[in-house]
Amino acid sequence: MSTLFDPFTVRNVTFRNRIGISPMCQYSSQDGFANDWHLVHLGAFATGGAGLVIAEATAVEPRGRITPFCAGLWEDAQIGPLLRITQFLKQHGAVAGIQLAHAGRKAGASRPWEGDRLLGEEEGGWEPWGPSAIAFGDNLPRAPHEMTVQEIHGVTARFVEATRRAVAAGFEFVELHAAHGYLAHSFLSPLSNHRADEYGGSFENRTRFTLETFRAMRQVWPENLPMAVRLSCTDWVEGGWAIEDSVELSKRLKAEGADFIDCSSGAIVPDAKIPFAPGFQVPFAERIRKEAGIATMAVGGITDPRMAAEIIAEGRADIVLIARESLRDPHWPARAAHELLGSRFSSQLPVQYCMV
Ligand SMILES: Cc1cc2nc3c(=O)[nH]c(=O)nc-3n(C[C@H](O)[C@H](O)[C@H](O)COP(=O)(O)O)c2cc1C
Repeated sequence: MSTLFDPFTVRNVTFRNRIGISPMCQYSSQDGFANDWHLVHLGAFATGGAGLVIAEATAVEPRGRITPFCAGLWEDAQIGPLLRITQFLKQHGAVAGIQLAHAGRKAGASRPWEGDRLLGEEEGGWEPWGPSAIAFGDNLPRAPHEMTVQEIHGVTARFVEATRRAVAAGFEFVELHAAHGYLAHSFLSPLSNHRADEYGGSFENRTRFTLETFRAMRQVWPENLPMAVRLSCTDWVEGGWAIEDSVELSKRLKAEGADFIDCSSGAIVPDAKIPFAPGFQVPFAERIRKEAGIATMAVGGITDPRMAAEIIAEGRADIVLIARESLRDPHWPARAAHELLGSRFSSQLPVQYCMV
């Protein structure tokens, strides 16, 4: 039986414990560049004891940003500020991870605190791309440009280039974002993908973009470092992508060299009925772990250290990811250890904090 504070080794990378910080967009970059905000935001999670810190959805091309202020890794100049951050994370014992992403048909919006609405081109918005010319709806009513096969291959190439830059920036863990209605997920789901060519229709065709992109990324990502894919394990809509599809895709991703499936859900359409509750997505992590035989990450409403410890002890997932609770308490792992273990965690903290 593993505990929350046991180390975990995958390929040549050892996570000091089973707690990761989930990727969270900060909408605080200029031209995609990381800055002091990101150093402090991400750095606090390392000093707080997390085993893994995953930097926010980072766009592989400008068109793939959700907002004009999203992070990016589409040019070499963006590597330097990230390298400073990964060095800090590693110096303080955390594995430095990054999520690479393309926003697809959900691109070109304003920041959440500026209304979370579609931006017109006159206010800095742009034409979104997707598998089919079907809009997300609600706050994002613009139908995307239906990508040609050549454009699909071009985006895969952008993922590969960004993956190379992630290596140069010192990351030790990379995650392909194929969840939450963004580009890869929009290819997977029959709700957003109505294509009649080799990228739409059957399960084989709808999963082609994700599998091809993952395969190409794996070729340039070092053999000794782990890779993950974040899936929306279900669309929560009748006729949409379902957990059975996620199990099958996870098996195929494992065969391509994936080490983890990060198990999220939803966000492909605005009106799905999602049964939010503490740990409501854990059953997906458990099922994929058992049925696809791949390590999983559980995320969603995990705030209680005892719940996190149980998820690991019961073998329902290999890593728990904390998102919003880590914004309330960036040192959540240290607090959880204090509650569960007393002082026995201090060896996992920076020396400056060893007295906690
Ligand atoms: C501010 C914020 C930004 C987020 N940005 C991302 C992101 O960049 N990529 C992603 O996959 N999920 C993102 N999410 C979702 C979280 O990673 C996480 O899956 C979700 O919040 C559920 O976990 P929680 O209940 O612990 O908050 C974001 C969530 C929040 C609150």
